[in-house]
Amino acid sequence: MAQDHAALPSKAADITPTPVRPGIELQINGEAFRHTGDPEMPLLWYLRDVLRLNGTKYSGEHGEGGADLVLVNGKATSAIGMSVSKLAGKKITTVEGLADAKGNLHPLQLAFIDEDAIGCGYCTPGWLIASMDLLGRNKDPSDNDIDGLPNLCRCGCQTRVRKAIKRAAAAMKQGAKA
Ligand code: FES
Repeated sequence: MAQDHAALPSKAADITPTPVRPGIELQINGEAFRHTGDPEMPLLWYLRDVLRLNGTKYSGEHGEGGADLVLVNGKATSAIGMSVSKLAGKKITTVEGLADAKGNLHPLQLAFIDEDAIGCGYCTPGWLIASMDLLGRNKDPSDNDIDGLPNLCRCGCQTRVRKAIKRAAAAMKQGAKA
């Protein structure tokens, strides 16, 4: 039996379903996501439980240890203290987004490896994010500047972390690709 083609949708817009509920548009590590769950969900749980980006760690209910830091528009921000509802249209970078598109590690990540500044690794993503923020504001950080970062390391890597951040600063000044 011949079909009545006039009754069929002709444009993609005619068959695009209307969203069941409005979502929050997020930009994470260069990719677009829409969160349609509880708008007050802390970003940390969205990253870890929904997107399975597990680099960012729980670090106390107020983010005391700094392992839950992510970059929001370039500024180190506690992911446990930030609800998804406040992040629409902002650029979020987690530790998984520091390497380039080909998987080449950021000079800061290379410096942490070269200086053996990683113990168990729990705190490392937070250090990397806080250091990214610091190096974005200060190309030549002093020991005091580094000691002022909010991060804690229970494995005692602080001295090596200092060296790693300074090594990264020097590499970035010499034009290592950031
Ligand atoms: S490397 Fe283990 S807590 Fe820092």
